[in-house]
Amino acid sequence: MSRISSKTIFLGIVGLASFAYAKSGWGEACSQANSHLDSDTWALDSDCDATTYCADNSTCAYRGCRKDIYPFGYNGVAFDQLPALCPLGQFCPDEGDRCLDQVPVGGSCQKDRDDECAPPPDWNDLNGYLNVNGTVCLNFVCQYANVTLGLQCILENTPYTGYLDSGAQYAFVISRDNCANGLYCDGTAMQCMKDKAFGAACTGNKECLSYNCGSDHKCGRAADEPIHPGTYAYVLVGLGITILILSVMISLWFVHRRSRKENQIKLEQYYNEQIAYRQSIMSMSHAKNSLLSLPPNTSADQARRSIFADPDDGFASAHDLSVPNIRRDSSAAWSDAAASDSEILLNGERNGESSAGPRYRG
Ligand SMILES: *[C@@H]1O[C@H](CO)[C@@H](O)[C@H](O)[C@H]1NC(C)=O
Ligand SMILES: *[C@@H]1O[C@H](CO)[C@@H](O)[C@H](O)[C@H]1NC(C)=O
Ligand SMILES: *[C@@H]1O[C@H](CO)[C@@H](O)[C@H](O)[C@H]1NC(C)=O
Repeated sequence: MSRISSKTIFLGIVGLASFAYAKSGWGEACSQANSHLDSDTWALDSDCDATTYCADNSTCAYRGCRKDIYPFGYNGVAFDQLPALCPLGQFCPDEGDRCLDQVPVGGSCQKDRDDECAPPPDWNDLNGYLNVNGTVCLNFVCQYANVTLGLQCILENTPYTGYLDSGAQYAFVISRDNCANGLYCDGTAMQCMKDKAFGAACTGNKECLSYNCGSDHKCGRAADEPIHPGTYAYVLVGLGITILILSVMISLWFVHRRSRKENQIKLEQYYNEQIAYRQSIMSMSHAKNSLLSLPPNTSADQARRSIFADPDDGFASAHDLSVPNIRRDSSAAWSDAAASDSEILLNGERNGESSAGPRYRG
């Protein structure tokens, strides 16, 4: 029961989808009479989908060529599996059935397909951004874009529908003509006139050299014109960079000064410690020498007391002795090195061999 209902729903969805997407796929029926230009976009619209065209036998057949490097409707198709591009001198029509030879001037062409027209011999001079290699398709007829100033020209106005973000529609007109580069076809005189410079009054984009007639009906800047900032912008940016670099340097200097001071204090503490350590070792060594020069038969107990415990025993040196100020937690390496160094020094001093020091220090 549930299987049947789900199947029905699935079929219903497929039916709805195929109804909404009314285009036929490969092998399905179509009618060439239904092919027409879309009134909003002026693109060719047929019964067949984006990868097929309506063939003479009224079925949709796979396309035999493409006009764009990356054609519409071929999602998921490998690049080398796309229909071929047409060679030089040929074109792929909007249907995309097969490549055809380019049409000479006066021949028929499809909407906005300037590339279907064979270029003139001097195509290099006539080539411009409003034509293709010097040819232009106007009112479905191939023309050269070679009409000069003051001569009669042909005009084609095409209304398009634009959509705003809000969904509202607006119409705009694209006007094309066969005037040479730098000229436009005036709609009332039907003669080629010189394009207008920046700031001149205009009624359409084609009248302006920049191809941009602003909403104030004056020729504006071209859409791709680079912005040239004033001198003040360079000065401000330069100042900004200089101030940034200076502030970084000054703050670094302050930071370094602080750590320099901290290091200085650490070093002073370390040297003070070392000096104190050395002095206490030397005091101990003096004390030992003094002990050795005590009169014979002095008991060890008495001698020890004379240094550390009994200042009244008459040994002046006992007052000068300071308790060794050695930090027990200082690094072992330093303590060892300092201790062995001092030992060597002391051995040398005691034995009177000054050469012993340098030999060990290497
Ligand atoms: C219709 O014509 C196309 C293109 O010539 C061909 O590929 C296709 O097989 C034909 N279909 C039928 C049913 O004859
Ligand atoms: C214009 O002509 C040149 C030389 O024949 C060719 O290489 C180029 O592809 C043509 N441009 C177009 C858009 O057809
Ligand atoms: C433009 O080209 C056509 C076709 O070659 C030619 O007849 C016509 O004289 C040319 N016009 C100008 C102004 O050169």
